[in-house]
Amino acid sequence: MYPHRPVLVEEVLTHLSIRPEGAYVDGTMGSGGHAEAILGRLHGGGRLIGVDRDAQILALAKERLQGSDRRVDFCHGNYADLKRHLDVLGLEKVDGVVLDLGLSSLQLDQGERGFSFSKPARLDMRMDPEQELTAEDLVNDRSEQELADLIYLWGEERFARRIARTIVKQRSQGRITMTTELADIVARAVPSRGHAWRGRIHPATRTFQALRIAVNQELDHLKDFLASYPDMLNPQGRVVVISYHSLEDRLVKHTFRDQAKRGVVSLVVKRPLIPSEQEQQENPRSRSAKLRVAERL
Ligand SMILES: C[S@@+](CC[C@H](N)C(=O)[O-])C[C@H]1O[C@@H](n2cnc3c(N)ncnc32)[C@H](O)[C@@H]1O
Repeated sequence: MYPHRPVLVEEVLTHLSIRPEGAYVDGTMGSGGHAEAILGRLHGGGRLIGVDRDAQILALAKERLQGSDRRVDFCHGNYADLKRHLDVLGLEKVDGVVLDLGLSSLQLDQGERGFSFSKPARLDMRMDPEQELTAEDLVNDRSEQELADLIYLWGEERFARRIARTIVKQRSQGRITMTTELADIVARAVPSRGHAWRGRIHPATRTFQALRIAVNQELDHLKDFLASYPDMLNPQGRVVVISYHSLEDRLVKHTFRDQAKRGVVSLVVKRPLIPSEQEQQENPRSRSAKLRVAERL
């Protein structure tokens, strides 16, 4: 019924070091997989606050968790605004926060959202459909240089310049509006000997990742959160972050290290945890996952 399989669930539970009476935040609640597992560890006064930018997905979490006899608050919004969500609930600090970054399989499977290059749809990619900016705006309105930089930086795509040049040439004949159209343009731009998909991934994978990050300002939100979470954690409270690409993981790693040096947190794991062979086989989406944990001093 909820086809998104939560990643590294046992590791999240262990490393959040849950106190049954504590208050915990799931900042990327999705359809509630991790949330359900956390709720299973809470008793009495224990409570969970769930945040997600995507109201449709949050509604699924509500449905899933409605039978729980623990207190759950659902907040539609950004985890980068956690302070504000806690203020509204009258909470100053919590005992743990988990972030499971990126997209839910449900969002990817909803072809009409425009996240997938293999499903024909408008180039949308907004996690929160109330936001204005879409991927179609970026692809058609940014300069060639801006597009090249964006695809290079956020897609880590070595053919970014060629892809941007081909996009700009193509759009001079009319707006590029569809996911599959863009995927074809990118595949044409990348030299066939460099086709990453001779290995595993489609040549448009990195370009789509870059656009999604840009549309949703994903790295900015992560940066804002990482700078502000220590003030919202009780002593010994923990933050657990699961990331799915190196840009996110680098940000988490460097921020945690810097905060540890300044005596704000301690690093609970020195190296990131990754899913077991078995989990990777059973849930291919988990393959790139890396989990890091810090504890408030
Ligand atoms: C990988 S899914 C989480 C799945 C969830 N842990 C579960 O077990 O069902 C990521 C979710 O984070 C949400 N999301 C991404 N960036 C966000 C942000 N800045 N603020 C709030 N939610 C965000 C997405 O809408 C998506 O539902």
